[in-house]
Amino acid sequence: MVRKARIAVLVSGGGTNLQALIDAQKSGIISNGEITLVISNKAGAYALERAANAGIKTETVIKKDTPDFEGRLIELLEENGTDVIVLAGFMSILSERFTSHFEKRILNVHPSLIPSFCGEGFYGLRVHQAALDYGVKVTGATVHFVNEIPDGGQIIMQKAVEIQPGDTPETLQKRVMEQAEWIILPLSVEKVCKEITEG
Ligand code: GAR
Repeated sequence: MVRKARIAVLVSGGGTNLQALIDAQKSGIISNGEITLVISNKAGAYALERAANAGIKTETVIKKDTPDFEGRLIELLEENGTDVIVLAGFMSILSERFTSHFEKRILNVHPSLIPSFCGEGFYGLRVHQAALDYGVKVTGATVHFVNEIPDGGQIIMQKAVEIQPGDTPETLQKRVMEQAEWIILPLSVEKVCKEITEG
């Protein structure tokens, strides 16, 4: 049997993107990879429950309680034999020490069309608020490799989403997730896993 890439997903919150990955694994959209570990930097994140429901091993690593936060993450990821790391709503910026350790092996999903509304300080609803404040008519989501520049790594996939009159950050976030994030994140993960397993 062909080896599957071992995927670790890093989360902080609700975990709807994690759920999209779990569902994509079940439906066969992800066939060259397997989610083997979920790490949260927030105790009690609902994403942990989603992982447990799917029978996936979980770990929680809290930055303020962990003297060498990134060192501990690296340790857990290596113990797991991780090939691909997915940042799925992971709200902590990782330094070059971490990103260079897993070069071209870390993917992030960001809820805008990079290079708009991205970089430090742009996360979650703030991204959608910024798009609405600017008055753009089209936004979307981007999946990219992670390097030492926040949201600055090579783009893997993007998908555009239209802004509707009367949108709030919440309605826009929901549309961007449904029409873009939950589609391009699993497809990107499968693409990278396939490249890794096929060498
Ligand atoms: C998603 O919209 C994701 O793109 C965003 O946070 C949300 C997490 O939702 N990530 C960022 O803003 C990273 N800069 P989820 O926990 O339900 O997947």
